[in-house]
Amino acid sequence: MHLRPATPADIPVMMNLGNHSATASHWSREQYDRIFGAEPPRRLALVIEEAVGLQGFLVAHEVATEWEIENIAIAGAARRRGLGTLLLGAFLDHARAQRASAVFLEVRESNHAARLLYEKWAFTESGRRADYYTRPQEDAIVYRLSLA
Ligand SMILES: CC(C)(COP(=O)(O)OP(=O)(O)OC[C@H]1O[C@@H](n2cnc3c(N)ncnc32)[C@H](O)[C@@H]1OP(=O)(O)O)[C@@H](O)C(=O)NCCC(=O)NCCS
Repeated sequence: MHLRPATPADIPVMMNLGNHSATASHWSREQYDRIFGAEPPRRLALVIEEAVGLQGFLVAHEVATEWEIENIAIAGAARRRGLGTLLLGAFLDHARAQRASAVFLEVRESNHAARLLYEKWAFTESGRRADYYTRPQEDAIVYRLSLA
């Protein structure tokens, strides 16, 4: 198992993973390209690989002194083996090293797997955005982890 920063060569597999995960954010090629764009905001994209290939990714960006997790997905067959925990842990190490004050994210209310993953890392619910998601329409729960 190998955890490393993503490169533009990873985009096709990241897109495949993200777009085949019903509850991940479904991004266009342009949105993935923007991760590596010429003038990106402060972003971090991490991937996790095993012998069979890329098994998951996480994308986050800096918003003032905070970081927002924008997307995280693990391949269906590789779930529940701790890879999401490893990715999130590596990202939190980075955010702490950048002296971030907090990390936040939005998640579908019904996405229990992801919510339990965040709660495992001590994120707590800090709000709700009504009808934030479409197809299907659903509220977002905002999770926050204070690092200060
Ligand atoms: C959410 C996701 C990234 C978790 O990745 P993962 O590698 O399976 O997670 P882990 O194996 O590290 O599990 C960590 C914890 O999350 C919880 N969890 C993960 N999947 C779960 C499931 N299917 N049911 C219940 N709890 C689950 C458990 O608390 C688990 O800890 P445990 O195994 O010690 O009980 C993965 O399910 C996924 O890619 N989902 C689709 C995309 C998505 O929803 N992204 C989040 C958008 S906000």
